[in-house]
Amino acid sequence: TRTPIVILNFKTYLESTGEKALKLAKISEEVANETGMNIAVAPQHADVWRIAGEVNIPVLAQHIDPVDAGGHTGSVLIESVKEAGASGALINHSEQRIKLADIDVVVKKAKNAGMMSVVCTNNVETSAAAATLKPDFVAIEPPELIGSGIPVSKAEPEVVEGTVDVIHKIDPDVKVLCGAGISTGEDMKAALGLGAEGVLLASGIILADDPKKALLDLVSKI
Ligand code: G3P
Repeated sequence: TRTPIVILNFKTYLESTGEKALKLAKISEEVANETGMNIAVAPQHADVWRIAGEVNIPVLAQHIDPVDAGGHTGSVLIESVKEAGASGALINHSEQRIKLADIDVVVKKAKNAGMMSVVCTNNVETSAAAATLKPDFVAIEPPELIGSGIPVSKAEPEVVEGTVDVIHKIDPDVKVLCGAGISTGEDMKAALGLGAEGVLLASGIILADDPKKALLDLVSKI
């Protein structure tokens, strides 16, 4: 069995921005080293360069635009985040959705750049569509549970199981993560029990009084 994966999405919380983003990334690295768990962080683009230079865990971009080099002011170019030290990217997060055709473009760009692609989806149907694009991961996150503190693994287990099922039929090489409301070791254990290979999470760790303790708890039941 593979070691489960934890991706900590820093979103745009002040608690995970700038200096605090670096601190949280270092905490994540410590927990990864202490527990042997695969932990990756997804800070805001402006924090990628500094974090990637100071930690030895994977750093992912939160978003990539489907643009080629040239005149696209304000866009996020994959070559830029790669040079900044990112080794992968979240794509189509519910808070930053893009069109299906653009998801395809960005997954292919990531593949060509040798970067890991994590396509986020909102239900079983979109998970099936995402799997046909052959990303490394599909991360299923029911939007209504994001930031709610109600774990998807308990509130909507059928969505996780349905996603695992459909993706394994379409392309068994695509790995499934789940997220939304995950914060404790119990939530993570339940997610793995439903067939997910890990979790994508944010507020349960970032807004915890003691993020290190929360992360240690998250991986404690595996
Ligand atoms: O990308 C992770 C995310 O959308 C889940 O957020 O705060 O419910 O863990 P949260």
